[in-house]
Amino acid sequence: MIDFITIVEVGPRDGLQNEANTLPATSRIELIDRLANCGVPVIEAGSFVSPGWVPQMDGTGEVLAGINPLPGTRYPVLVPNMKGFELASEAGATEIALFTAASESFSQRNTNCSIAESIARLAPVAEQARAAGMRVRGYVSCVLGCPYEGDIESSDVVSVCEQLASIGCDEISLGDTIGAGTAAEASALVKDVMSVVAADRLAVHFHDTYGQALANILACLDAGIETVDSSVAGLGGCPYAKGASGNVATEDVVYMLRGLGLETGINLHRLAETGDWISKQLRRANNSRAGVALLNKTNQQGVPEDEIE
Ligand code: HMG
Ligand code: MG
Repeated sequence: MIDFITIVEVGPRDGLQNEANTLPATSRIELIDRLANCGVPVIEAGSFVSPGWVPQMDGTGEVLAGINPLPGTRYPVLVPNMKGFELASEAGATEIALFTAASESFSQRNTNCSIAESIARLAPVAEQARAAGMRVRGYVSCVLGCPYEGDIESSDVVSVCEQLASIGCDEISLGDTIGAGTAAEASALVKDVMSVVAADRLAVHFHDTYGQALANILACLDAGIETVDSSVAGLGGCPYAKGASGNVATEDVVYMLRGLGLETGINLHRLAETGDWISKQLRRANNSRAGVALLNKTNQQGVPEDEIE
């Protein structure tokens, strides 16, 4: 294992896109700035998708215009098609994330097209983004199960990853969209995918529906994964995967990594405060076990000395 793990914070996009309370741009901006000030290296700032499909992400242009970008911090945005890419470019985005699925039914419900159509739609977007010097991430949803089709063959995931790599994705994130996967399956899958895409170009993206996310991440780290997606306070779910819980909480991942001696560059105390703040903004429970425990401890004992700045 290497000693630095890159956390990709997806709360302001994957988290907020599925919250019942839609936040105004000002709160989305504050969330992103707070996360950056915790030392989070990559923050997915929002998406340029159809507002009819995902109204929570309307106004992402305003969000990008309002944040105070920190030098060295990356702020990618999700786009589904050329129109989204054009809007993202006009709004000053410097990095994009594209998405497709390993399940035909999910692709249809999420983007109204087949997997092959989505790749054909995304190829020119990736090409233009790269020509503009942007880094391009590609997501694959439903890598360990689909809400409509059940089990997914790992060969289908490998094939989609190969296609995303061939259209120019610098990094590919493997999404367990419904959070049904277990550690042995996750480990076997990433090893299969590593036969076509190098480990340092892969990320894992676990939702915590069955409480398996941390175990899955640990198994994937053992398999050589260096990039982990997570969401502060465990925000979110998936609009097209009923019952799916939010992404694994960033606080929980950072706490686990710290215990393994792995660095993230993130101030955990500040992150726990951010998780508490956003949960209050959304009037929902804080879904980070580590975040809640750390704040309770701080209330009793004060801020730990190594986290005072
Ligand atoms: P469609 O209805 O087939 O598209 O949707 P269309 O081209 O016919 O357009 C319909 C309307 O949307 C038109 O407007 C377009 O202009 C507009 P109208 O003429 O009716 O007024 N439109 C747009 N507006 C703003 N931005 C755009 C855009 N494109 C079209 N980019 C479409 C196809 C892809 C647009 C739609 O299905 C869509 O936006 N889907 C996005 C769904 C989404 O955001 N899902 C969540 C993200 S994926 C995810 O969460 C999984 C992930 O986290 C990994 C994991 O967990 O597995 C990444
Ligand atoms: Mg997701």
